[in-house]
Amino acid sequence: MRTKLEQIRKEAQDALEKLNVLNELDSFRIEFLGKKGKLTQILRGMGSLPPEERPKIGQLANEIRAYLEQEIERKTRQLEEAALNQRLKDEAIDVTMPGKRYYRGKLHPLSIVLNEIKDIFLGLGFEIAEGPEVELDYYNFEALNIPKNHPARDTQDTFYITENILLRTHTSPTQIRVMERQKPPIKIIVPGRVYRSDEVDATHSPIFHQVEGLVIDRNITMGDLKGTLDVFAKEMFGPRTRTQFRPHYFPFTEPSAEMDVSCASCDGVGCRVCSYTGWIEILGAGMVHPKVLMYGGIDPNEYSGFAFGMGLDRITNLKYGIDDIRLLFENDIRFLEQF
Ligand code: DAH
Repeated sequence: MRTKLEQIRKEAQDALEKLNVLNELDSFRIEFLGKKGKLTQILRGMGSLPPEERPKIGQLANEIRAYLEQEIERKTRQLEEAALNQRLKDEAIDVTMPGKRYYRGKLHPLSIVLNEIKDIFLGLGFEIAEGPEVELDYYNFEALNIPKNHPARDTQDTFYITENILLRTHTSPTQIRVMERQKPPIKIIVPGRVYRSDEVDATHSPIFHQVEGLVIDRNITMGDLKGTLDVFAKEMFGPRTRTQFRPHYFPFTEPSAEMDVSCASCDGVGCRVCSYTGWIEILGAGMVHPKVLMYGGIDPNEYSGFAFGMGLDRITNLKYGIDDIRLLFENDIRFLEQF
C-alpha cells in the first residue's frame, strides 16, 4: 500500500508537471483528490491492513494529500501569472504607431447659412412654412399673376412634367398655398429647393435654393418691407451693412424692387467681389400685387402685404467667399471640411 501511495505521488507530480492550461487543474484535482479520486480509492482498502499499520499509512496519505493541494495551489499561481504576462504582452500599446484620424460630421454650408437666416426671421416673429417641389402650373405661375404666354415665363426656364405639373421655379407658389389655408396676419418665410433648366456654370445650377418671405396684415407698407429687410441685412452681413432699394419689375408685386447690400469685402468702396460698384444685389421684393392677394382669397381692400425672395446659394457663396456654385452640390469632402 505504501508503494501504491508513493506511485500515486509520482504519477501526480508528472501529470502536474505537464499541465499548462489553467482550467485543466480542476480535472486534475478530481482525478487524484476527488471523492472517486485515486488517493481516496487507495484509502478505501485501509480496512484490510493490520491495525498497527493503519496510522502510518493514514499519515502518509494525509501527507500526500497536503502536498498535492499545495502543489495545485502553486501551479495555479504559476499559470495565472503566465496568463497575465501573456495578456500584458498581447495588449501592449505601441506608442510609436501613427494615430488614426477620425472625421467629424459637419453641417453643409447651405444648412449653416439657412439656419442663420431662420434664426434672424424667427427672432422677428416669422414662422417657417414649406411647399411642394413638384408644383401645379397654377401656383407657380397663374396665381402669381403670370398667365400663359406672359413674357415673364421665358425668364424662368421650366422643367415641365405635364402641361400643368412642373418643378417649381421659385418658392413664391407657397405664398398662395399659405394664403389659401391661413387668414392674416401672415408672417412666414419659406425655405426650399427650386429648379430651372439652366446650363451649369460657375453661377448657374439646375437645382438651387431660395428663401421666400411673406407678410400680410392690415396697413402693411413699403416702410415695413424696407425696415424688415434692412434689419435682416445687418444681422446677416454685419452691423456696418447698408441697404439700397432699386425699382424693379415682378408680376406678383407692385411696386417691386431689388435690394442691394453694401459689399462686406470692401465696405462699399468697390472691389472685385462687387464688380467695383460697392453694392451686391441679394434679393427681390415688393408689395404683394392685389391680384395675387385675391388669388389667395384675401381681400386687397382690407389687407396689404410685402414679399421677398432671396437666393440661398448666392448668399452662402457671398458669406464664405465661394466663387463657384457647383462646389455646393459636388459634396467633395475636401470642400465641406472647411466649414
Ligand atoms: N420669385 C422671384 C424669383 O425667383 C423672387 C421674388 C421676387 C420673390 C420678389 C418675391 C418677390 O416674393 O416679392 O426670381
